[in-house]
Amino acid sequence: MVTAALPYANGPVHIGHLAGVYVPADIFVRYLRLRGRDVVFIGGSDEHGVPITIQARKEGISPQDVVDRYHSLIKDSFERFGISFDVYSRTTSAIQRQTASDFFKKLYDKGLFVEKENEQYYDEEAHQFLADRYIIGTCPHCHNERAYGDQCEQCGTSLNATDLMNPHSALSGSVPVLRLTKHWYLPLDRYESFLREWILEGHKEWKSNVYGQCKSWLDTGLQPRAVTRDLDWGIPVPVEGAEGKVLYVWFDAPIGYISNTRERLPDTWEDYWKSEDTCLVHFIGKDNIVFHCIIFPAMLKAEGSYILPENVPANEFLNLENDKISTSRNWAVWLHEYLTDFPGKEDVLRYVLTANAPETKDNNFTWKDFQDRNNNELVAIYGNFINRAMVLTQKYFSGKVPECGALTDFDKATIAEIATIRGNVENALENYRFREALKEAMNLARVGNKYLADTEPWKLIKTDEQRTGVILNISLQLAANIALLLEPFLPFSSAKLKAMLRLPAASWEQIGDTNLLPVRHQLNEPALLFEKIEDAAIEKQLQRLADIKIANEKQAYQAEPAKNDICYEDFSAMDIRIGTILEAVKVPKTDKLMKLLVDTGIDKRTIVSGIAQHFTAEDLKGKQVSVLVNLAPRTLKGIESQGMLLLAEDADGKLVFVTPEKAVVNGVAVK
Ligand code: MF3
Ligand code: ZN
Repeated sequence: MVTAALPYANGPVHIGHLAGVYVPADIFVRYLRLRGRDVVFIGGSDEHGVPITIQARKEGISPQDVVDRYHSLIKDSFERFGISFDVYSRTTSAIQRQTASDFFKKLYDKGLFVEKENEQYYDEEAHQFLADRYIIGTCPHCHNERAYGDQCEQCGTSLNATDLMNPHSALSGSVPVLRLTKHWYLPLDRYESFLREWILEGHKEWKSNVYGQCKSWLDTGLQPRAVTRDLDWGIPVPVEGAEGKVLYVWFDAPIGYISNTRERLPDTWEDYWKSEDTCLVHFIGKDNIVFHCIIFPAMLKAEGSYILPENVPANEFLNLENDKISTSRNWAVWLHEYLTDFPGKEDVLRYVLTANAPETKDNNFTWKDFQDRNNNELVAIYGNFINRAMVLTQKYFSGKVPECGALTDFDKATIAEIATIRGNVENALENYRFREALKEAMNLARVGNKYLADTEPWKLIKTDEQRTGVILNISLQLAANIALLLEPFLPFSSAKLKAMLRLPAASWEQIGDTNLLPVRHQLNEPALLFEKIEDAAIEKQLQRLADIKIANEKQAYQAEPAKNDICYEDFSAMDIRIGTILEAVKVPKTDKLMKLLVDTGIDKRTIVSGIAQHFTAEDLKGKQVSVLVNLAPRTLKGIESQGMLLLAEDADGKLVFVTPEKAVVNGVAVK
């Protein structure tokens, strides 16, 4: 039973999702299927919770509209990237409502929850309790006036809603009042010793980032967690006295794994969730560790009839061009946009994200690396080997697999590599080391290239057709083996390659076999598996990101507070004229200073200005600018500066001139 975190349906999915969770999960599952193991791969959208309601308010639509829209978009993106879920459903399904509700009821009936009343902010105008994100106020630490009830985004401190000064409701703007409300808590503290034993003693083999996070939670000590919320979007709490309350989204969502299995396998789902010979694996990102390693297992344990996860191979985060990926700041490569910009290149992204997966630490995606890996690895190693083997066979043997005769030691050594590499790939995959597995698998293409480079069949054909045939036979068998070996990672390319080879159905167990393609078997026409990605395509992506960065900076820009009042005389004392820059040279041995000759209409004078990091001499020459001409002269680096140019500094620190809207005569006054 393999699950991949259910993404929130409040926005599209991006490369961080793919790299952290869905590509590794898919590689793992495809591999298991190829080995003939009985595996079910569960996905779906997480459609409840406060983030959905916030997105709905922002867009002025209902939460249902939000999740309908993003569920289809996300589902479609995953499908197109070949993420081979057995089911991709949603937590708003009827079966989920039933399953989650029953689950809660069972724990409730067993008397496992703790009921507690406490005070929470209530909006008397909107007639509802306020989720932390719906309370805005002043941060007690940095005095940011727009801090949220759970966190101040300016100074990063996590807060309690009652810490905020001047709290007000994001719904109505009114000042919220504290009201008593009852909630049901899962007493995690009671599961602490069980969890310690199960994880810290029983699962020392878990990835160190996962094990470490669990240990630190357990060492800090677990507190009871509320599993209900006062909210009008979610699964109603199925007990008396809980009107207007819903299940906490983190109670609801992981049960989605179970109900999505039920939806797909109504008769046999319990084999996958309640049988001791089933191995349950959760693929998630690091922010989900506590929920999958501590809270959900405690829920399952409390319920009593379920198995617990065997492993939770959580990944760290992927950054984009050295910045944290952020949905709200639009700092992401969205999958649906990638598919439009790079049609047919699903495997390229799968490849780059696996080669660069944030397995043990946060990692960085850059477009340059994307281009390099495509051009230097997929095209130059994998694509090149396949193409040479295919084209040479086409040319010398009309596309028919030539006969294989006596083998040299080098042939034998080359063939032996297949089994070795297969073993390495298996070992890495079974231990959730996907980068290493991919690197190993690609080594088989490297072996192929080396084999061709060393045997040079294009030369040999002139003297020894039979030996050329042996070499190409081996090369084609290698190609067939590569198609199988890389299939979990690059399924689209494997399908293409198998079609080109007209490879008869073969399983993973056949990797190592050098008779995958029978002698005289007719191949299809060769076609390129990968194509070079040109600079222009990369520059376009970088430009898009640069535009987003500027838009974000402008949005975040806070104007300086106004200065003290002055009288009109103070203003009119300044003599500002329009002039034209005639010449510009950088002042030697300085970084910033530029020496300018300016025609002010009154005279031609020298002005030294600190703009050399923003403009070249070419940019400046002929430009009309505003000049304060009666500023007392000052000497800078031995040059007398007679006046000052007026510039504005943009949100991103870039300087722009204050230039007349239409060209005017030099010397006219600004007043
Ligand atoms: N929606 C959560 C997130 O994106 C993940 C939920 S995983 C589940 O972080 F197990 F709870 F479904
Ligand atoms: Zn703050």
